[in-house]
Amino acid sequence: MPNLKILTSPDWEDYELLDSGDHLKLEKYGPYLFVRPEPQAVWQPTFEDIHWQSAHARFQPSREESGGSWKYIKPMNKSWEMRYKSLRFLAQTTAGRHFGVFPEQAAHWDWISERIKSAKRTIRVLNLFGYTGLASLAAAEAGANITHVDASKKAVAWARHNQSLSKLEDRPIRWIIEDALKFTQREARRQSLYDGLILDPPKFGRGPKGEVWEFFKFFPQLMQACHQVLAPNPLFIVITSYAVRASALTLYYLLHDITKSFGGNLEAGELALVERSQGRQISTAIFARWWDNSYTS
Ligand SMILES: C[S@@+](CC[C@H](N)C(=O)[O-])C[C@H]1O[C@@H](n2cnc3c(N)ncnc32)[C@H](O)[C@@H]1O
Repeated sequence: MPNLKILTSPDWEDYELLDSGDHLKLEKYGPYLFVRPEPQAVWQPTFEDIHWQSAHARFQPSREESGGSWKYIKPMNKSWEMRYKSLRFLAQTTAGRHFGVFPEQAAHWDWISERIKSAKRTIRVLNLFGYTGLASLAAAEAGANITHVDASKKAVAWARHNQSLSKLEDRPIRWIIEDALKFTQREARRQSLYDGLILDPPKFGRGPKGEVWEFFKFFPQLMQACHQVLAPNPLFIVITSYAVRASALTLYYLLHDITKSFGGNLEAGELALVERSQGRQISTAIFARWWDNSYTS
């Protein structure tokens, strides 16, 4: 039976979900406050209007899915530095209404770091759809060799900048701008094997040569390729997914298919942000993860 879980990330100092309600959320990223749409916040906000009005910027959605623009209310810098434990990174408002960091993923960064440190051997990690590199940097900080793959030149440049802000320039990280599926299939042909896999496949995406990524169409093929690049005694696999009409159970069973021969532990569930105002949890993504539990302390 799947063991479904809600994971939260309680160790942030530079991020906070302050309040939510009326289909909005009020969040603090570093020194700034933002109001963004949150369709799941169907309840009443707790804080007075004056708190909501103190935001530096609000994201105003347009009619198309995920379209819209930022409305700046108070003066603020275009980009600013944030930190999570020993990681340092750049945050900025983006057209996609995000900031270059998904704070709920800190639960995974800590878990990946623990897995790598407890293995006490050199671990090769493949991070697919790696975005601004925070999972790669958490794994590198824990001592692993990383191959980071993303289709976007801009995202990889941002990730490399985060590497130097985090003072991890001396860590072995290969930065690769490629289509995730093509790259993994090529690694399988070369018998280039990995002990850890991190995947954050979007619903839709494009490779650098216009390769189309569609979650439901290509994810099974990607998982097959991932199976072929697993080392004989792999350490961990973590899959996260946003905005797909799928339950964590879908990820659980896909991951079960490729890990059943290894034994170990498998769990799935949701990543959630916890409000300061009332402790209500907002689910932001689904995940599934597998690990070799012979190293668990
Ligand atoms: C959901 S974001 C990843 C979020 C990130 N892992 C995090 O935790 O902050 C999706 C990333 O996938 C990349 N992407 C989209 N299509 C791709 C493809 N076909 N191959 C490789 N990367 C792709 C995008 O450039 C983007 O950086």
